[in-house]
Amino acid sequence: MIVGRRLHLRHIDATVALLDTCYLHYCTVSSIGSYRLIFYGTRVLTAIILKFLLIYIRVTSFSKMGGEKPAESTAGGEELSKKALKKQQKVAEKAAKKAEREAQVQVQQDIADQQDVSIELHQKLENKTVWLRGRLHTSRAKGKQCFIVVRQQSYTVQGLAAANEQISKQMIKFISNITKESIIDVEATVKTVPSIIESCTQKGVEVHIQKIFVVSAAKPQLPLQIEDAARPVNESDDTGLNIKVNQDTRLDNRILDLRTPANQAIFRVEAGVCKLFRDILTKKGFVEIHTPKIISAASEGGANVFTVSYFKGNAYLAQSPQLYKQMAIAADFDKVFTVGAVFRAEDSNTHRHLTEFVGLDLEMAFKYHYHEVVDTIGQMFTELFKGLRDNYADEIAAVHQQYAMEPFKFLDPPLRLEFPQAIELLAEAGVTLGEEDDLSTSDEKLLGKLVKAKYDTDFYILDKYPLAVRPFYTMPDPNNSKASNSYDMFMRGEEIISGAQRIHDPDFLTERAKHHGIDIEKIKSYIDAFRYGCPPHAGGGIGLERVVMLYLGLDNIRKVSMFPRDPKRLTP
Ligand SMILES: *[C@@H]1O[C@H](CO)[C@@H](O)[C@H](O)[C@H]1NC(C)=O
Ligand SMILES: *[C@@H]1O[C@H](CO)[C@@H](O)[C@H](O)[C@H]1NC(C)=O
Ligand SMILES: *[C@@H]1O[C@H](CO)[C@@H](O)[C@H](O)[C@H]1NC(C)=O
Ligand SMILES: *[C@@H]1O[C@H](CO)[C@@H](O)[C@H](O)[C@H]1NC(C)=O
Repeated sequence: MIVGRRLHLRHIDATVALLDTCYLHYCTVSSIGSYRLIFYGTRVLTAIILKFLLIYIRVTSFSKMGGEKPAESTAGGEELSKKALKKQQKVAEKAAKKAEREAQVQVQQDIADQQDVSIELHQKLENKTVWLRGRLHTSRAKGKQCFIVVRQQSYTVQGLAAANEQISKQMIKFISNITKESIIDVEATVKTVPSIIESCTQKGVEVHIQKIFVVSAAKPQLPLQIEDAARPVNESDDTGLNIKVNQDTRLDNRILDLRTPANQAIFRVEAGVCKLFRDILTKKGFVEIHTPKIISAASEGGANVFTVSYFKGNAYLAQSPQLYKQMAIAADFDKVFTVGAVFRAEDSNTHRHLTEFVGLDLEMAFKYHYHEVVDTIGQMFTELFKGLRDNYADEIAAVHQQYAMEPFKFLDPPLRLEFPQAIELLAEAGVTLGEEDDLSTSDEKLLGKLVKAKYDTDFYILDKYPLAVRPFYTMPDPNNSKASNSYDMFMRGEEIISGAQRIHDPDFLTERAKHHGIDIEKIKSYIDAFRYGCPPHAGGGIGLERVVMLYLGLDNIRKVSMFPRDPKRLTP
């Protein structure tokens, strides 16, 4: 018997009931299972019988020898039988050992089979009995029959219960009364279907239910229907029943909302971005560090910090790990990155602002030119996009099934423009900016479109921002007093990382801070970090959620934050 221990629809565990102790009481052993059971059973039995035989031989030979006394006076015949006994004993010992070994190998084999979860629920399993655990996605009773759809994450299969000798009418009633989204265990026979089942992911088969158990029931009234929450945003309204679920209802009931195929995929892509970020940088020799989130002062002298009470005084939530990354560089870690929560007390209720998000930050010492760092970050993104494209194609497709969007385009190596080139592009499109003006959000959007039209890329680097629009710690361009060694990077016309070469000379840093009218006392610890020698370095901070949102072409950052925090939302 094949046991789908955790209702793997796509991947059913091929396991033997015997070893599956949790479900042993549910199972009636059949076909393969019983054969394996007997096979396994006989081996164990043989081992036990041989063991007993061995003990018997030992005991009898011992008593025949008359205890411990050496049998010197005994006749030759008895000597012979003693030898024969010893031989017998050895043979039995060997056989017992062998049987024991074989039994052990068999157990290991069965455990290995149990862990091998790669059998898809499809036609090959026809007439096999399987155990499935999943959610009751939908159910529909029709006279003496009940159709259900069992869902496991994003995968679904149709189940059918029909009243017959084995299945009573009460059972049909029981099944049709199970609330949607309840967790159920089903024992069923796999059957191929004459015509494809369009509404399920397992299209060629259905399962004929023999037993069904409710493992955990859902409340009868759901605050939102999974089908409604999963409906493509672009589906044409033929029926007049095109129900959509609004964002607040989704976020208020996030555990239900997260069960849709698109959401299942979004957070797997997000995990992929984190994993790729870590893997790519680790391979490039970066060290992952962890920085404190509770700090004594706004580290870069910025505003918009959350104040928290800290024993008898106050502390702040870190807006960025920048100071700590830079201190790690001053402490000779050479290349560091960190993944962690970042807090912004900004009352911005936009599609792209959160008050808490995940920062993917990196900082790197360089030898000759800060472009070593810009190139490293650019390369990291190219590899990241390749990794997503190659390893997350199913997830990306699942998201796009609900939210249609053009696939993400990028160049290898990435495009790098300088700020004056951007000004020029915008001017050609009729938007005039001064050479020391910053880009507004709408300028950035427009620039993204212009760059896409001209270079066919959704990702690019904009280098050499005007010094006047960057923070005090930004290194000026030695060749142009109005420019700086700083950069932003964009995806689909929105900024995803801001970075720069940082000033590593304490006196120059003090001078620049004064120029910006910053109280030196307040940033003393930041400046002091560079008093014992620090290599030239640059870095940047990436917003994880923004990368995921823009890569997938989604329109709101709350879609890619599992439990988003914004000025109006603190729960769930
Ligand atoms: C499954 O059972 C049906 C009905 O007993 C039979 O017609 C069919 O050939 C079987 N299929 C397999 C693959 O054993
Ligand atoms: C249907 O389910 C409800 C609980 O969800 C239960 O109270 C009721 O007894 C069930 N009815 C039948 C006929 O099983
Ligand atoms: C909406 O759906 C139609 C039909 O599937 C498709 O042709 C069209 O491109 C979609 N529009 C958008 C904006 O995704
Ligand atoms: C400054 O100009 C020199 C000479 O053209 C060049 O080699 C160097 O890379 C420039 N420095 C920066 C930071 O752009």
